[in-house]
Amino acid sequence: MTHSDDDNALFESIANDIVEKGYSISPCALPDELSNLLLQYITELPDENFKRAGIGRAKEHSINELIRTDEISWITSNSEAGCAWIKWSQSLQAYLNRRLFLGLFSFESHFSHYANGDFYKKHKDAFIGEGNRVLSVVVYLNQDWTAADGGELVIYDDKSADSSIVDNSIITVTPNFGTIVVFLSEEFPHEVLPARRDRYSIAGWFRLNNSIANNIDPPS
Ligand code: OGA
Ligand code: MN
Repeated sequence: MTHSDDDNALFESIANDIVEKGYSISPCALPDELSNLLLQYITELPDENFKRAGIGRAKEHSINELIRTDEISWITSNSEAGCAWIKWSQSLQAYLNRRLFLGLFSFESHFSHYANGDFYKKHKDAFIGEGNRVLSVVVYLNQDWTAADGGELVIYDDKSADSSIVDNSIITVTPNFGTIVVFLSEEFPHEVLPARRDRYSIAGWFRLNNSIANNIDPPS
């Protein structure tokens, strides 16, 4: 697989961030052509394709609603946009495996739609010893997002918290078009604050081989 020098520079900066901090935030960094393809796809996707998101295994719908209210649509390679996204994610996976020896093996991802008022309370994408999600990636597809639109991603960097500095450990990300966030799934609790307009993102997870991790977790 080949990818451009731009992708290489971006992947290298993501790799360095992961080594240094365990997370990486790259504002407006997704290649324009890919972002535009994804935006066009999601704009044309019928509402019925989005389903209420579940949390973990067979939990009650009513419990889910206390934790998250967004709707999701799993991404497959059945569309040009889905294909292009999966291809880009695979080149990131290959780069990180070469550079950091992470042993990432598979990738799954979905679009999320947060309507006005929707949120996702503080959670982790994986729990130590329970799953095989190693690395989370989130990208945003919202043009002209303003502070009044809410919907920020808040990442809690508990480990590096310096108790003498308030809020040192809280990283806030505006869900702007093309912004890429990558973080170690087991390390960083995060939440999505209530959105005040339609908010579209992609959330994806790189996993270890199921047979190595010995845990087949249903996608959530
Ligand atoms: C998730 C998630 C973050 C976002 O879907 O697990 O944390 O900003 N999404 O959409
Ligand atoms: Mn999450």
